[in-house]
Amino acid sequence: MLSEKRKKGIDLIPLGIGDPDLTTPELIINEIIKQVRIPENQNYPASMGEQEFREAVARWYKVRFNLDLDPSDEVSNVIGGKEGVANIARAFINPEDIVLCPNPGYPVYENGATKLCDANPYSMPLLKENNFLPNLDAIDRKVLRKAKLMYLNYPNNPTGAIAPKEFLKKAVEYAEDYNFIIVHDNPYSEFTFGDYIAPSILQIDPNHVEINSASKMFNMTGFRCGWVSGNKEIIKGVRKVKSQIDSGCPIFIQKAVIKGLNEYKSVEKPEIVERTIKTYEKRRDNLVKGLNDMGWKTDKPQATFYVWTQIPKKFCEMSCMEFVKSLIEIGVIITPGIGFGQYGEGYVRFALTQPEERINEALERIKAFLS
Ligand SMILES: Cc1ncc(COP(=O)(O)O)c(C=O)c1O
Repeated sequence: MLSEKRKKGIDLIPLGIGDPDLTTPELIINEIIKQVRIPENQNYPASMGEQEFREAVARWYKVRFNLDLDPSDEVSNVIGGKEGVANIARAFINPEDIVLCPNPGYPVYENGATKLCDANPYSMPLLKENNFLPNLDAIDRKVLRKAKLMYLNYPNNPTGAIAPKEFLKKAVEYAEDYNFIIVHDNPYSEFTFGDYIAPSILQIDPNHVEINSASKMFNMTGFRCGWVSGNKEIIKGVRKVKSQIDSGCPIFIQKAVIKGLNEYKSVEKPEIVERTIKTYEKRRDNLVKGLNDMGWKTDKPQATFYVWTQIPKKFCEMSCMEFVKSLIEIGVIITPGIGFGQYGEGYVRFALTQPEERINEALERIKAFLS
């Protein structure tokens, strides 16, 4: 449908995919150019990451979360967070195991991780009435006993929700009682607005693992560099799988990401990150106001670059997919909630990854369409 529209020369405004339109900071680009010229940086990397890279991640955890991690065995590089999400399952999940997955959620938890290990995803509904947090008390005890791993992701894609520390504490208690691993996927840790500072699950309990990546933090989705940190036995498993599958993230990319991470001097976001967040904050305010002004009731997310909202009342007879298709007709591309699982039905996700003028243009078109 989209390629047809493109062929016809229709002006499409892509607010679907979470790929930043903002560019990688100059500081990092210059470092890549410098590092790529050094012959040693053109060789095979270590799949677990260079020692210097792992040290930079540990240092970042110290300044950002006040945590002490040992770079020799509590950190591994991954080729983007997606690889980490999938390979952790490869290390620990056997056929028929249960993996607890948020729904709606990043689709790789259920598909690339769980199902490719012949295991069974158990969907934890993220509902508006629970502030898009899973209701852990509602999970059947039999399911919990069979669960090997739980994916959590706050700040959350697609809902933009954040998790209070009390919720993370409760999740950790469940993990202890039922003996499963928590993988906290945290690529939006820096995508927070106002005074809110996103925590690390490792601050609550260092016995689990957390994934983060340069993709969103430094607008580096195309460079493929991330990290998994936490419990050494879990990190050992990830490294073991990776050593037989990939040959790591290019050394010159790792070195450039070190440069970015070293910009952090405290919990405060450094200028290269703050600039990005301020841009998204303005876009968020603009989009949410525009939608509410036209009668499309939409809440302002406290984090992420996504706006998650129920399709307008007037269209509630439609599935979210049908609604999204009708917006494609006017050249506005957003993501149907069902793409993140069955509990996403009735919702759509806007990604704030277009300049303000384009968001305004999308708002104009949507306004005309709704009326
Ligand atoms: C929740 C979540 N996890 C992981 C990723 C993967 O990020 P990357 O592999 O680029 O680090 C994304 C990307 O959109 C995401 O939204």
